[in-house]
Amino acid sequence: MTGRLSRGSLLLPIFAIACTVPQPGDPVAGNLRRQLLRSFPSALPEPGPDLTPDSPAVQLGEALFFDPNLSSCGTVACASCHLPERGFSDGRRVSIGCGGISGRRNSGSLYGAAYLTHLFWDGRADSLELQAMDPVTDPREMANSWEEVVRYLSTGEHRATGRRFVAAERYYRAGFAQVYHGQISPETVAAALAAYQRSLVSTDSAFDRWLAGEDAALTPAQVQGALVFFGRGRCGECHPPPAFTDSLFHNVGVPAPRYESAEPFPTNAGICGGVPVHLDPGRAGTVNPAPCEELGAFRTPSLRNVELSAPYMHNGVFSSLDAVVQHYWSVGRGTTSPPIGQLDHRMRLIRLTDSGGHPDDLRNLVEFLRSLTGSTRDGPPWGIAPPGGSGLSPAETLFSQPTPGKQGS
Ligand code: HEC
Ligand code: HEC
Repeated sequence: MTGRLSRGSLLLPIFAIACTVPQPGDPVAGNLRRQLLRSFPSALPEPGPDLTPDSPAVQLGEALFFDPNLSSCGTVACASCHLPERGFSDGRRVSIGCGGISGRRNSGSLYGAAYLTHLFWDGRADSLELQAMDPVTDPREMANSWEEVVRYLSTGEHRATGRRFVAAERYYRAGFAQVYHGQISPETVAAALAAYQRSLVSTDSAFDRWLAGEDAALTPAQVQGALVFFGRGRCGECHPPPAFTDSLFHNVGVPAPRYESAEPFPTNAGICGGVPVHLDPGRAGTVNPAPCEELGAFRTPSLRNVELSAPYMHNGVFSSLDAVVQHYWSVGRGTTSPPIGQLDHRMRLIRLTDSGGHPDDLRNLVEFLRSLTGSTRDGPPWGIAPPGGSGLSPAETLFSQPTPGKQGS
């Protein structure tokens, strides 16, 4: 399939422990670069054909992504929980949907979604097209039915709020005519949303420029962080470049949050010898029969633009990158155990700081993670605020103010 990365089978050898901070152009850094170029593709492949920001399918998908009328309450768009300025996440521990109802999981970044072979933290959707079917009908998210979505897009009529959006109707009629021969269906809506999300690729980070030969693109601390990331930190084994995810499932021992979400996990009832109903079973909760070795395992997220999408992990339990790195440090030392299931065997092999490494491992790793921030995408000019926030722009203003290049005809 286009845009997907072949799984690198090569694991980098553990690098010799560097006791001094390497300078950007020095042999240790050069050696690391050579090893990376030998082991992994040097850049992200194109996510698919015709996915520039101004391609008609991407633009139609963008309008749908930012349209709160796809929800029954008329205030929750995809973009309410996937805000461009937060790396397409929402800054909350868990998301909040129509009626202020809390979800169970953290909304993660969408950068690099094109390269994931399993979508959602538990991987329950195999493609972005299938993924898009979920949030529209999820009672904790947009709480709508596809019948109503198709009615709204074809007629401008939003029945739940009793409003009619004439400009939106015109916009969508022209957009779907241009891209999908006028067919407005769950499948074409999902296809347009998928095209837009596939186009969210972040390139040109400091790391990319360094890998391409620009020695000074990384600071000495970031080079040191890279050595740890690809060496004794073992991070690169599950977060391999260029997408910084292996798209596979691992239990990395993320602690349960202190305040459990109100909604338990009903799937826990019979699985794997009985699991406490408030703990997230992860991968094991979605496949039947449950793969119990994957209890508490979640799909590795991409780390591109990770700096933008705090809080972190499937349950949003860590509010900063420092806290994430601290977690890996303590699991590696054997002082943290998973609340559920078996820890991935690599986790106990992580060696940070205390085993004779450079004393600034944790800080350097965080600096390296920041070097993965690259190009970002703005939302459309009309913008949107998270649910509960003020200044949420209703779809009337969304489409009644003509915005050059965004009108469908
Ligand atoms: C109420 C908040 C909310 C809304 C609205 C919402 N999402 Fe999400 N989204 C989430 C959360 C939370 C997750 C993680 C859920 C999980 O993994 O079980 C997620 C996951 C995703 C993922 C998977 C990302 C990954 O790394 O696997 C994609 C893609 C996505 N959403 C796209 C959309 C689209 C498209 C829409 C609109 C049709 C949408 N979302 C609406 C909160 C929301
Ligand atoms: C065994 C595979 C594995 C290893 C090794 C690993 N990770 Fe992860 N990483 C994951 C998985 C899986 C998650 C999601 C876990 C969850 O939510 O339960 C994750 C989550 C993260 C996140 C949060 C991203 C987000 O969007 O929420 C960061 C940051 C991160 N890892 C950095 C690192 C660093 C730094 C290292 C090395 C010290 C590392 N990882 C080692 C698999 C791994």
